[in-house]
Amino acid sequence: MQNSPKRFTITAALPYTNGPVHIGHLAGVYVPADIYSRFQRMQGNDVAFVCGSDEHGVPITIKAKKEGITPQQVVDKYHAIIKQSFQDFGITFDNYSRTTAKIHHDTASEFFKKLYEDGKFIEQTTEQFYDQEANQFLADRFIVGTCPKCGFEESYGDQCESCGTSHNATDLINPKSSITGNTPSLKETKHWFLPLDQYEPWLKDWIVKGHKKDWKTNVYGQCKSWIDDGLRPRAVTRDLDWGIPVPIEGADEKVLYVWFDAPIGYISATKEWAEKEGKDWEPYWKDENTKLLHFIGKDNIVFHCIIFPSMLKAEGSYIVPNNVPANEFLNLEGNKISTSKNWAVWLHEYLVDFPNQQDVLRYALTANAPETKDNDFTWSDFQARNNNELVAIFGNFINRVVVLTNKYYDGIVPDPASFTEVDIANLTELKAYPKVIENSIERYRFREAQAEFMNVARLGNKYLADEEPWKKIKTDAERTKTIMFVSLQIASALAVLCEPFLPFTASKLKDMLFLNELKTTWGEVSTKEVLIPANHQIGKGELLFSKIEDEQVQQQLDKLEATKKENKVMNASPIPQKDTIQFDDFTKLDMRVGTILEAEKMAKTKKLLLLKVDTGIDVRTIVSGIAESFTPEEVIGKKVTVLVNLAPRALRGVESQGMILMTETPDGKLVFLNPDKEDPINGATIS
Ligand code: MF3
Ligand code: ZN
Repeated sequence: MQNSPKRFTITAALPYTNGPVHIGHLAGVYVPADIYSRFQRMQGNDVAFVCGSDEHGVPITIKAKKEGITPQQVVDKYHAIIKQSFQDFGITFDNYSRTTAKIHHDTASEFFKKLYEDGKFIEQTTEQFYDQEANQFLADRFIVGTCPKCGFEESYGDQCESCGTSHNATDLINPKSSITGNTPSLKETKHWFLPLDQYEPWLKDWIVKGHKKDWKTNVYGQCKSWIDDGLRPRAVTRDLDWGIPVPIEGADEKVLYVWFDAPIGYISATKEWAEKEGKDWEPYWKDENTKLLHFIGKDNIVFHCIIFPSMLKAEGSYIVPNNVPANEFLNLEGNKISTSKNWAVWLHEYLVDFPNQQDVLRYALTANAPETKDNDFTWSDFQARNNNELVAIFGNFINRVVVLTNKYYDGIVPDPASFTEVDIANLTELKAYPKVIENSIERYRFREAQAEFMNVARLGNKYLADEEPWKKIKTDAERTKTIMFVSLQIASALAVLCEPFLPFTASKLKDMLFLNELKTTWGEVSTKEVLIPANHQIGKGELLFSKIEDEQVQQQLDKLEATKKENKVMNASPIPQKDTIQFDDFTKLDMRVGTILEAEKMAKTKKLLLLKVDTGIDVRTIVSGIAESFTPEEVIGKKVTVLVNLAPRALRGVESQGMILMTETPDGKLVFLNPDKEDPINGATIS
């Protein structure tokens, strides 16, 4: 009972090409968008799922400077890597384009010109931040300062990453150039502004009155707060040399703001696809019956719910999004994922360590997707999801069904005898699942949808465990046939229902059960009496999933630990040199080689050890703040460097008569400034 096909234009945020893509991208945007798109295609709907590389904007020029290459080289490099990663993970874009493509430059230029000619912009000369030393205007990420809305101290010129608000650079408190660190000066320049204030009543009607109920609360809430705060005109052009040239007279050396051109990239990508397919792109963007959906991360909400819709409205002939299912952020082992800090699991690296295990990552990310709040990805959760769910439930069920069918019936689906109540109850429950999963997907609750899918596998597992065909085969051949027949129906349903979530597994499973010719649709899992008929031949078993070992997890944790260390070293700014001293000052220090004779923890303190040190001149008491790095046992017998003529000082009621010299490793551990291995005698002076 297929309804007439619906048309969907599904967009996934265009990733910046200043680095590869990581698990945060996948979890927040591309996997949910792919699940949704695959699902709609399986319903027979008409889907255009588009994306592409976001190749303009300041992040690209910053990266180019850092790597000493041109912006074009940067985008070429990462566009290729990103495109490959998406393909590797089975993200089924109908088109993955890029914003340096000619079709995009043309589309974005025409869009701008149309608004310009229709008088939709305000042309205004204002003072903008300028870096005298770098000799350039400071737009967007070239400037950082305190967010006027939330007080975050590292807000960018156009948007605060902490609260998501978009603002004008001149609203920043305490602005600094991110190129030189200088406080910028102001310089006059002309720009074109989209008067968002004029769209406020319409936005209010559309979002606040219209969509409240079916938009996610995080999305709706942010939009409402911005609208309530009042909107102001936003410049859509920039004084930069990387981007799409402003296509009008008198705008030399100006380009379109990246957030003006990038969302138009969705349109160009659709056009490019339609051209290749011999289709008309316009219904996908202009027909009121088309459902336009933007899958994004939460930092993109303002652009997709306020600015881009206002642009589309200003143009006049476009539809606006039906929904913007934005996700929160995914953290990694407790810390914010960061491209610049290399704190990420990069997709291309994952595939080296876990070859052919794309579905495991897709599964773990969806199971823990940051749908309503920020979530944390941990390798131990990843391992548990694989071992306890994919292997132990889904894989185990399929394996038992396939192995037993081969063993008992040479891989030929047996004819069932009569069904028991339990059989019927299970088959009835099975038929209810497509609708249940669909309901969750339609509400963008992908973790819930996937959990329901997993319940189908649980159903199969429990059925087998209860019915025990491996025992019944000895006593009741007819009953065993029925059990295996029912189990094979469940296995076939799984092959269909897992496709949006685990596409690689779906095709493996279909191959294994020789299901491809049957072409069972999602809806038919509910409506068809038989999903795999008696006498149908299936193939040999092959494991769908394999266990992930502790060593593999440890290897990933070690990798992250190494990243942490590297960052510490790179960020450790050298401590400035102290004021010059004279040689005479230096000779005042009397440093000796000593040996620690006794050591104990000082009561009621965390940091202090009470030491007895043989300095060669005497044995004295020294209180040293090293208890967090060493146990008393570790230090007894150690040769150390001691400053012996430091004036005595009382520490927690004990007089400390000198100081042990120490230094710190990059990860914050104290180490002794050891005398050389030659074993100098106690009391030897250091000079
Ligand atoms: N490049 C942006 C980011 O990574 C997303 C752009 S989405 C689009 O945050 F709408 F502009 F395409
Ligand atoms: Zn803020």
